[in-house]
Amino acid sequence: MARLRVGVLISGRGSNLQVLLESCADPTFPAEIGLVISNVADAHGLERARAAGLPTLVIDHKVFPSREAFDAQMDAALRTAGIELVCLAGFMRLLSAGFVEAWQGRMINIHPSLLPAFKGLRTHAQALAAGVKLHGCTVHYVTPALDDGPIIAQGAVPVLAGDTEEDLAARVLAVEHKLYPLALKVIAEGKAGSANPKASLINPPV
Ligand code: GRF
Repeated sequence: MARLRVGVLISGRGSNLQVLLESCADPTFPAEIGLVISNVADAHGLERARAAGLPTLVIDHKVFPSREAFDAQMDAALRTAGIELVCLAGFMRLLSAGFVEAWQGRMINIHPSLLPAFKGLRTHAQALAAGVKLHGCTVHYVTPALDDGPIIAQGAVPVLAGDTEEDLAARVLAVEHKLYPLALKVIAEGKAGSANPKASLINPPV
């Protein structure tokens, strides 16, 4: 069976990219990574991708006159590489409406909170400030509104007494690393239709 061809967009550490590329290294996994793009030239994730022998591309947003021009370059690179699904993995740029519309239903993101709670940045600090007892991460389709698309999968962790932001981040990240490959597998197997997001909810082992 043909494997779903995935492009991963990163800006930094790349630990989610790492688990995706490890899953995709298994020939029986239903997806393969065809391109890794970083907007940051020294992102550690690029080293991870190169070590795995994956094609990489640096597209520096700072040299483009507009967000649209930067996104058009990414769009062209993804299409040239035959990418069918885009995975955002710590990609720290807002995307233009045109790019999101072009890839809608074919672009997913992992966000470190149980959406719709705690959108945006500093999600672990937001969770501690709110006093929630459950926190976690979400894989969702990307739509024009930030951190707002149909939910594909979520993983939850407890918030424990005395937790710092770092404690919580580490506990959530460990679940992210299970959740993202699992969500990708479900999508690649055609079991997470964007037309019916409710049918695509899964409960990962955490
Ligand atoms: C993760 O916490 C992810 O949920 C968020 O950005 C972080 C990226 O981490 N979108 P890494 O680069 O994958 O290690």
